[in-house]
Amino acid sequence: LAGFIAGIAAAGKKAAPAAPTTTIDVLFGTQTGNAELLAEDLVAGATARGLGGRATPLDAVSPEQLADMTHVLVVTSTYGEGEMPDNAGLFWEALQSPAVPRLEGVQYAVLGLGDTSYDEFCQAGKLLDLRFEQLGATRVHDRVDCDVDYEDPAALWSAAVLDRIAAQAGVAAAGGTAAAGTAPTATAAGGAGAGRASRPGAQWTKRTPYRAPLVVNRVLSAPRSAKEIRHLEFDLGDSGITYAAGDALAVVPHNDPALVDQLLDHLGADGAADVDGRPLAEVLRVEREIRTPSKDLVADLVQRAPASELAAVVAHGDKQELDRWLWGRDVLDLLVDAGPAAPSLDELLPNLRGLQARQYSISSSPLAHPGRVHLTVASVRYGDTRRTHHGVASTYLADRVQADGEVGVYLQPNAAFGVPADGDAPMVMIGPGTGIAPFRGFLHERAAAGATGRNWLFFGDQHRDTDFVYEDELTAFRESGVLDRLDLAFSRDQAEKVYVQTRMREQAVELYRWLEDGAFVYVCGDASRMAKDVEQALLDVVAEQRGRGADDALGYLADLRRAKRYVRDVY
Ligand code: 2AM
Repeated sequence: LAGFIAGIAAAGKKAAPAAPTTTIDVLFGTQTGNAELLAEDLVAGATARGLGGRATPLDAVSPEQLADMTHVLVVTSTYGEGEMPDNAGLFWEALQSPAVPRLEGVQYAVLGLGDTSYDEFCQAGKLLDLRFEQLGATRVHDRVDCDVDYEDPAALWSAAVLDRIAAQAGVAAAGGTAAAGTAPTATAAGGAGAGRASRPGAQWTKRTPYRAPLVVNRVLSAPRSAKEIRHLEFDLGDSGITYAAGDALAVVPHNDPALVDQLLDHLGADGAADVDGRPLAEVLRVEREIRTPSKDLVADLVQRAPASELAAVVAHGDKQELDRWLWGRDVLDLLVDAGPAAPSLDELLPNLRGLQARQYSISSSPLAHPGRVHLTVASVRYGDTRRTHHGVASTYLADRVQADGEVGVYLQPNAAFGVPADGDAPMVMIGPGTGIAPFRGFLHERAAAGATGRNWLFFGDQHRDTDFVYEDELTAFRESGVLDRLDLAFSRDQAEKVYVQTRMREQAVELYRWLEDGAFVYVCGDASRMAKDVEQALLDVVAEQRGRGADDALGYLADLRRAKRYVRDVY
């Protein structure tokens, strides 16, 4: 009843004609900053329509504050496997409490950002949308779930939602027609959001990347390694890009022209044919995803060839089975499999997604490497009986950028993942494989800054003699005292697998002591297995050392997360 009355009160407040503006609370959950930029665009769009607006991270809002808001627009990405992004987890947790206030006075709408190639597409947005509804809030506009090419659908959604709220509030929507978020291209073109202009180098986006010279391209792993791990350096020139250790660099790749030719060949198409004013071969090389088949293409192929192996796998309804089946197959493989049932070029093109930028954790420090960005990238190459398949961006960087050639890049800040502001705070870094990237940056950063906090790195890969990347640097850090502890786990150098979490468990006493000393814990690398196993190891270490059971350990880790002392950059 109290909630109901509060709801009436809120509704009354909202209807008061004297209020000069309706204030829109734009709440964002973001991992890499896209949702935050959209939130800023929404605020600008609200202001342009004579409405009030403010953008706030979800975690900065309590359920009580939420219940007092009248218009709430939620923009959130999804993290890992259907999880809330790092700055929305606490908010989501708070909404689960039985004591959470009702939201009858709240009008809301949700915009989800995601990637249809992940199982739990836009899961965070879906969960929040449902929870708001359960708590009695009124949806003013349907949720839209955006795929990686989010700019246009997000701009359309923003304009529609803002126009509707403006109309309801009796503010002339006409004032907003020229404003941010009204036309699909307004947001996409960048510059619409106030925050965008304020960050130096922020003019560089997917559509307008900075052409950065690739000045170093060196293989770190030994030739007989099962892997090919490269150290790449880009010159930032006069881009104005300023980054922090822990940020990511987005690379706008091009497809392999050889694969484009094979595809054209198979389709019997002429690469010079015109597609919206551009040669087809060019469109396939720089604009479309031709490696990973889209969901739409899979659905289309199933319809065309209902008796195919693909159709049988899809019919089982097991997403993991489908993923396993699709793994290692590219668009051309599926077309070949479909035989005469395959779509024509015209039928195929709409089902090829836009070629996405790929993000890589930066492995340098702006203090130690001014004017440069370093990446540590594993080249993805594997063969099957038919052809060799190549990862798009990793082999673009490894093989196809000419010496001193330029690569389209832009910065993806990751404010949640950086060295502690307190230079005295200890850090525990867990990063096997290319997960080492940001931690190399962190160590250089701390060394250059003269930070005195203790540093502990867990690193590993298959074999010490072929895969110990940056061995010289790490050894030097160890000798100079920047690295207090370096625990290595080379998984295939002995009969039994040894992983980073094996070392964590061996060091349980010391690891727990570091946690109690206020250490920040960072994990970077594989999300699907490593990060989960590492989290379990952390929980086990805490449970064992505290002796208060598994729930207590869960609470301990939740506290760490809340204090931003347990952060992950996993993919
Ligand atoms: P493996 O390939 O020998 O199994 C970087 O890829 C390192 O991470 C490799 O040594 C790899 O070992 C290891 N790795 C594989 N699965 C892992 C897991 N679940 N947890 C931690 N490390 C893992």
